[in-house]
Amino acid sequence: MRVTFRILRYDPERDANPHFESYPLELDDRAVVLDGLVQIKDFADSALTFRRSCRQAICGSCAMRVNDREHLTCSTQLSEVVRDGTVVVEPLANLPVIKDLAVDMEQFWRKYRAIMPFLIPDRAKPAPEKEYRMANKEARHLQQFGGCIQCGACYSSCPIAATDEEYLGPAALAKAYRFAGDPRDSARRERLKIVSDERGIWRCHTVFNCTEVCPKGVEPTYAIQQLKKLTIRRRFGLPV
Ligand code: F3S
Repeated sequence: MRVTFRILRYDPERDANPHFESYPLELDDRAVVLDGLVQIKDFADSALTFRRSCRQAICGSCAMRVNDREHLTCSTQLSEVVRDGTVVVEPLANLPVIKDLAVDMEQFWRKYRAIMPFLIPDRAKPAPEKEYRMANKEARHLQQFGGCIQCGACYSSCPIAATDEEYLGPAALAKAYRFAGDPRDSARRERLKIVSDERGIWRCHTVFNCTEVCPKGVEPTYAIQQLKKLTIRRRFGLPV
C-alpha cells in the first residue's frame, strides 16, 4: 500500500510553530499506523518523537489523533483510516506537546491522583482471611472500568477538557466510579464529594466523545451519569 503520512511536527527548541511534514511510504496492506511511524523514524527522520511500547493495545502509550480522531496507533489498521492515500497524525489534544507526537501527561495524572484511584477498605471491620470479595453481578457491572489503560484518548476528545484546564476529565471520573461503585470500598462519600465540586461531574455536558473513542470499550459517559445519580442521592440524604 502506498500512503503519505502527514505528521504534525513541533520541536520547541527549533520551531516557532507546529507544522505538517509529509512522508510517502510503501507499507504492507496489513500495516497499522504505528508501523508507518516506526518506518519514518528508522529510515527517514530519526528525530521524529512519539511514544510506543507494548504494540498490543495494553500499555496505552501510543494514543494519538489520526485523521481527527483518537486512536491507539498500534491497533489501528492503516487501511481503515487512510483517505485519498493520506493519513494525518497529530499528538493528543488538550495536553501540552513536549515534542512532535509526545505530550506531557502530567495534568492527566494529577487529576487521576485527585480521585484516589485505589480501593479503601473499611479498616474498622476485621480484614478477611483470604481476600476482599464481591458478588459476580457487582463485579461484572464494574468490570469495564478496570479495563482503562490510561491512554488519554478520552481526555483528548473531550470538549470540556479543551476549554477548562481544571475539569477532572472522563478517565479520572470513570476511575472514580470504578471505586465509588465498589461495595468493598469505604470512601464512597468522600469520593462523591471530590467529583461533585466545580471541577467534576457537573461540568460534563454528556457529549459522548470519550465513550466513542475509548479503544478498550470503557464508557466514561455512563460512569459520570452514575456518579451524578449517587451524588443526588447523597445530597437528599438517601442511602448511597
Ligand atoms: Fe467530555 Fe465525555 Fe462528558 S466527552 S463532556 S466527559 S461525556
